[in-house]
Amino acid sequence: MCSILSNILQRYEKPEAVKIKNPERVEELIKNMAADGPGALQMITDFDMTLTRFHQDGEKCDTCHGILHSSSLMSEEFKKRSQDLFNKYYPIEIDHTMTVEEKIPYMLKWYEESHETLTTFPFEKKHLTEMVKTSRILFRDGAVEMLEALNEKQVPVMVFSAGVGDILEEVLRKFNSYHSNTKVVSNSMEFNDEGRLIGFKGPLIHMFNKNEKAIRQSQPKYFENLSHRGNVLLLGDSLGDVDMVEGVMEPGAVIKIGFLNTKIEERLESFMNSFDIVLIDDQSMDFINLILTHVLKLK
Ligand code: TMP
Ligand code: MG
Repeated sequence: MCSILSNILQRYEKPEAVKIKNPERVEELIKNMAADGPGALQMITDFDMTLTRFHQDGEKCDTCHGILHSSSLMSEEFKKRSQDLFNKYYPIEIDHTMTVEEKIPYMLKWYEESHETLTTFPFEKKHLTEMVKTSRILFRDGAVEMLEALNEKQVPVMVFSAGVGDILEEVLRKFNSYHSNTKVVSNSMEFNDEGRLIGFKGPLIHMFNKNEKAIRQSQPKYFENLSHRGNVLLLGDSLGDVDMVEGVMEPGAVIKIGFLNTKIEERLESFMNSFDIVLIDDQSMDFINLILTHVLKLK
C-alpha cells in the first residue's frame, strides 16, 4: 500500500501526468526522507526547463542562452547565427536514437561556436539586468515557494546548469530567490576592465558532464561539507541531469524527478528508466511541493 504516494496523487491536479516505474520504492524513499527530516536533505536542481517553465500560453519560454538570443539589445545578425546553431544542435541533444558518447562531440562544438559568436558581437555586463528583466524566462508555478521553503528549513540547494551562470543568477535575483542556502555551479562569463565580454572562464559545463568532477572543480568541498545530508531531491529535464547526484557522500534516500517537456512519446521509456518520477508536460512544482510538505513537515 503506497499511502503517502496515493495521498500526494489525490492532492495533485494532474495525476495522469505522473509516471512512476516503481511506486513501492518511491513510497519507501519518501518515508525515509520524511523520517530523517530536513537536516538530512539537500536539493540538486538543473536550471533551464527545470526550475524554469518550458512554455506558457502556447509560446516557448526563454532559457539562459535564449535570453541572449532573443534580446533587443543584441544585433539581428547575432540572433540569426545563434538560432541557426540552436536549430542544428538542439535536435541532437534530445535525439533518442543517439548515445551520450555520440552526442558529446556535437555538444562541444555547439558551445565552442556559441561562445565564439557571443564574443564576436559587443556585449556588456551592464546589459545583463535589462536583458533578464525584459526576457520571457519564467519560473515554474510554485518554484519560488519551493525555494523559499527550502531556505526556511536551511536545506542546501545546488543549481547546476550548463547554461550561463551570470544570467541564471540574475534570474534568481529577479524572482527574489537567490537565498543564502543556494550555490550555483555553471559557466561564468569573463569581462574586461571596460565591462565587455571577452570569453568564459573556468572549466566548461555542458549538458553531459554535469557530474561530480565538474562540481569538484567549481565547489571543491561542497559535498564533503554536506556529508551528513545523504538524502537528495534531484530535479532535471535531461537524461544528463541524473549524473548531478554522483558526488553525494553516503547517499541515502535519493529521489530523481524528471520533467519530460517535449518529444514525450519517444523519450518516456528512457526517462522512466533514469528518473524515479517522471512529470509529463507539467509547468509547475506542485508535485515536488507536495513531497516537501511531508518531508519538511510543512502545514
Ligand atoms: P541545462 O538545462 O542542462 O543546464 O543545459 C543548458 C541548455 O542550454 C541545453 O539544453 C542547451 C542549451 N543551449 C542553448 O540554448 N544555446 C546555446 O548556445 C548553448 C551552448 C546551449
Ligand atoms: Mg535543463
